[in-house]
Amino acid sequence: MKLIHAYSLFLSCVSALPSSSSALQKSSYNENSDIPAQYALGTAPTLGGLRNYGGQITLTPSSPVLTLKYAHEAAGIPFIEIESGQGQIEIKYTEDFYGLDQPYGDGPWVFVNSLSNTFRTETFNVTGPGRIQSSLLQGGQRWQTITLLTNDSICLSQVGFVPTVEINPIESLPGAFSASDGSLTGLWDLGARAVRAACVDAGSQPASWNITAEGALIPGQFPAPCVFGNEYSNYTMSFMTKIARGGTGWRVGTSNVRAAPYFVLTSDYPNGSTFVNTNRTLLPPNTIVAGFGCSIVNQTLLPSDTDTHHPLPMSISENEWYNITTTINGTGFEIYINGTLGAFVTGSATGTWAFGPFSDQVAYVKDVIVTDTANGTILYQNDFMSEDVLVQYGVHSNYYNVCLDGAKRDRVIWIGDFAHTARSIAASTYRTDYILGMIQNAFIWQLTTGNNSGLIATQATLGTSSEYKDYYFPGAYGITDYQLFFLLTLGDYYRLTNDLATMQKYWNQTKDLVAVMETYIDPYSGLLGTSYDSDYFTAQGTLNATAPTALFVLALRQLMDVGTAVDDTATVDAFNTTANGMADAINTLLWNPSLGTYGISITEPNDFSLVAIAFTIRAGVANATRAASSIAALPSLFLTIGYKDTSSAANSNTTQLSPNTQGFLLESLMIANATLGIQTLDVARTMLETFWPKMLEQGPYYTGASWEYVFPDGSPGIYLFTSLNHPWGSAPTYVLTEYVLGVQPAEPGYTKWAFAPLVYGLGLKWVKGTVPTPQGDIFAEWRMDGSKIKLTFEGPEGTTGVVNGDWLVGKWSVNGMMTMLNGTYDIVGGTKYIMVSSGK
Ligand SMILES: *[C@@H]1O[C@H](CO)[C@@H](O)[C@H](O)[C@H]1NC(C)=O
Ligand SMILES: *[C@@H]1O[C@H](CO)[C@@H](O)[C@H](O)[C@H]1NC(C)=O
Ligand SMILES: *[C@@H]1O[C@H](CO)[C@@H](O)[C@H](O)[C@H]1NC(C)=O
Ligand SMILES: *[C@@H]1O[C@H](CO)[C@@H](O)[C@H](O)[C@H]1NC(C)=O
Ligand SMILES: *[C@@H]1O[C@H](CO)[C@@H](O)[C@H](O)[C@H]1NC(C)=O
Ligand SMILES: *[C@@H]1O[C@H](CO)[C@@H](O)[C@H](O)[C@H]1NC(C)=O
Ligand SMILES: *[C@@H]1O[C@H](CO)[C@@H](O)[C@H](O)[C@H]1NC(C)=O
Ligand SMILES: *[C@@H]1O[C@H](CO)[C@@H](O)[C@H](O)[C@H]1NC(C)=O
Ligand SMILES: *[C@@H]1O[C@H](CO)[C@@H](O)[C@H](O)[C@H]1NC(C)=O
Ligand SMILES: *[C@@H]1O[C@H](CO)[C@@H](O)[C@H](O)[C@H]1NC(C)=O
Ligand SMILES: *[C@@H]1O[C@H](CO)[C@@H](O)[C@H](O)[C@H]1NC(C)=O
Ligand SMILES: *[C@@H]1O[C@H](CO)[C@@H](O)[C@H](O)[C@H]1NC(C)=O
Repeated sequence: MKLIHAYSLFLSCVSALPSSSSALQKSSYNENSDIPAQYALGTAPTLGGLRNYGGQITLTPSSPVLTLKYAHEAAGIPFIEIESGQGQIEIKYTEDFYGLDQPYGDGPWVFVNSLSNTFRTETFNVTGPGRIQSSLLQGGQRWQTITLLTNDSICLSQVGFVPTVEINPIESLPGAFSASDGSLTGLWDLGARAVRAACVDAGSQPASWNITAEGALIPGQFPAPCVFGNEYSNYTMSFMTKIARGGTGWRVGTSNVRAAPYFVLTSDYPNGSTFVNTNRTLLPPNTIVAGFGCSIVNQTLLPSDTDTHHPLPMSISENEWYNITTTINGTGFEIYINGTLGAFVTGSATGTWAFGPFSDQVAYVKDVIVTDTANGTILYQNDFMSEDVLVQYGVHSNYYNVCLDGAKRDRVIWIGDFAHTARSIAASTYRTDYILGMIQNAFIWQLTTGNNSGLIATQATLGTSSEYKDYYFPGAYGITDYQLFFLLTLGDYYRLTNDLATMQKYWNQTKDLVAVMETYIDPYSGLLGTSYDSDYFTAQGTLNATAPTALFVLALRQLMDVGTAVDDTATVDAFNTTANGMADAINTLLWNPSLGTYGISITEPNDFSLVAIAFTIRAGVANATRAASSIAALPSLFLTIGYKDTSSAANSNTTQLSPNTQGFLLESLMIANATLGIQTLDVARTMLETFWPKMLEQGPYYTGASWEYVFPDGSPGIYLFTSLNHPWGSAPTYVLTEYVLGVQPAEPGYTKWAFAPLVYGLGLKWVKGTVPTPQGDIFAEWRMDGSKIKLTFEGPEGTTGVVNGDWLVGKWSVNGMMTMLNGTYDIVGGTKYIMVSSGK
């Protein structure tokens, strides 16, 4: 890894050069996005006209704001090398440039702890030369500012992130794809980068708290809740706390974080250790600040009620211990500090307690005792002196190789959204150990007793342990069809890897999950109905719906291959019967001839959805006629740049267009085109040429990775909250590899593979790529050479393959030999093939 780019300017600490000329900007970025690519020094964040990064940079009162831009999404533990000087600096992180204009960047992320810094700003006291390193990681950003807060001068020699994810350059990944339309190459890269920043190795994300001889040292962070106590209501929670800087924070009654109190106790802000940017309006000294909701500040989608301030009758010293006792008493929360009533905050809430100071605060916590208010029974006690605390509060370093929904936000192990991620991994980074890790993690969280036995955790939080899985039900298990997406991923993994040992190992557990899902099939309709949470992501809040039922059909049909491979024919037959029954029910009850497609559900027969069309096609529920008719209905979902989720969604400039659902549609269109002989490529082309390219535009939102949602004007679809590194939006990566380059497994694990290039339909001149497989790499290329088609490819020794295409007819030259072809041609691995059509 080259730390200083060859073209970069060397700036000495003595004098910073004036603003750059644009000629400097076209030199390429350093792909290792752990150090910035460009910077600007000035008085405010700067979007354009940045110069190439490198060398030393001096912050002074006249140029206090250093803007740093990374080539792509960067992730890791922030560090700064100080060359000289001292003073206070505030660092801000954001994916979307405009977050730099906000007091808290694009955060804070106050709904889950997730082994990262909840806050997107942090302040440091620079005391001289040396390295400054954050204690918590920042999961994803493209922009950063470093602002000098004091009347000093500080010289920096290096800034960046100690990577906590893989940072291999895209060009060095096992998978590769490029096409004559460079924009398609760019779309493939989006997914490769998205999975790279969102997937984390076991143990790579450090514990958020440090257990010391004085208890847990807790940095400013979203309060981490105790796994016990979700059922408690009227209790008293006491703990000892020592403020190391600024204040300490805690919660009680926090079973629902959006309707629970959050308390911050501030210190007297001693001169020596108080940051000059401490917001004394938000957090006055010697005060209990009480918020209700996600935090004491608002963020998009994470609202907090107006705070109340409770000035204390005493001064709160830093580095002194206090006993803080909070009682939920029915009308409010009584807070005692060393026996003195500090505040009574009205309100009510039930559930567990949590610890987490506010931004830039640090505090110790120990001797936590929870008692039943009515009779004094001790419900919980922990001195916070041992590592078991990390597990109980879900702040333990991660256990498995897993992928998160997003790099910066939604750092949760969402198994449903992983359906795209798994496929994009296989096409690009080839870290199939992440797919395996997700499977292991899901099954270790599988419930094994009670009515819900068989369910797997759909949204386990990074840092929590399956040791307490029963306590995390239902919170970590919600959304019924996410269970189905996991079944789908199992089949995908088998198809991609042929890892029969894993399939065998988990076959009984797979069947247990299928069995509990089967209990949700409505006996009257034969469609998926009431379930443990009756929450179906793909069904717009309805039951008896098309999309989740078709998804179940699809998952079962894929798992039938696994059942055959593990020699369990009785189960294969049972899955077949169940799948056929659901498919018939969809076709009988949900086809709406006047719409020309399937209705969303029995209760919403006149609305239709993108995922219902996608899954009925991919599952083989829709025959060719119905598939063609459904696809013909799609243009009415088009809004400005992409396709809306449903026909009932408004046509507004804040309608969220989802790359997740359009990704499922994209593959189904390719399947219908290849197998049903239907003209589907116009819709596919619109998505590939108009929708996804919004994520390629170099501008304030670019991260080099796929996004979570997009507004019709092409900007991020949940404002600053949007994850701009979200693998659920990465479908083009695997669709381009599998359907446009056209290399797919024909048998599990590519022991036999297919090369079926999409020569016509997207207007491409050539495509080439590398597809990693368990047998070795498949290299493939197709090219329109005048009127001739030229295919060049080679697969691993020991495999066989087949070339397919309705254009593969008549006279072809195969390695120089004239051969008459009729649509398919069998090949063997270990030999390079050059096939050229005779042209017309
Ligand atoms: C915990 O301690 C380690 C080692 O001293 C340090 O690197 C890390 O930043 C600390 N973490 C927190 C959250 O304080
Ligand atoms: C910063 O460090 C200096 C030198 O150790 C110290 O005097 C000062 O009090 C510190 N300031 C803060 C805000 O911690
Ligand atoms: C300080 O907090 C107050 C109250 O929340 C807020 O209105 C103000 O914008 C904050 N100031 C800064 C500089 O963030
Ligand atoms: C957050 O926003 C809501 C709705 O606009 C408002 O009622 C509330 O006072 C805000 N809370 C804070 C802490 O600013
Ligand atoms: C608060 O009480 C604890 C004992 O519970 C004592 O050690 C501590 O000194 C007291 N704090 C102050 C500031 O008096
Ligand atoms: C803190 O105060 C509460 C209430 O008086 C008491 O029950 C608890 O034992 C005290 N904690 C410690 C560690 O002394
Ligand atoms: C709760 O505590 C407050 C303040 O001490 C008190 O006024 C109120 O009566 C208490 N409510 C109950 C139900 O005990
Ligand atoms: C909590 O205490 C209040 C006041 O004593 C009482 O009205 C309420 O029923 C209690 N709640 C529970 C769940 O026991
Ligand atoms: C204390 O009260 C709780 C319910 O409020 C009850 O479950 C528990 O058994 C009681 N303990 C004793 C020792 O009475
Ligand atoms: C699966 O279940 C069957 C029947 O209960 C049992 O015989 C077999 O040992 C189990 N296999 C595994 C791998 O647990
Ligand atoms: C599903 O539809 C059937 C009618 O076909 C109806 O009897 C049943 O109540 C519905 N189930 C749910 C959960 O709405
Ligand atoms: C599944 O069921 C269909 C319809 O009965 C049948 O044609 C097909 O052969 C079955 N597939 C398997 C693998 O049993």
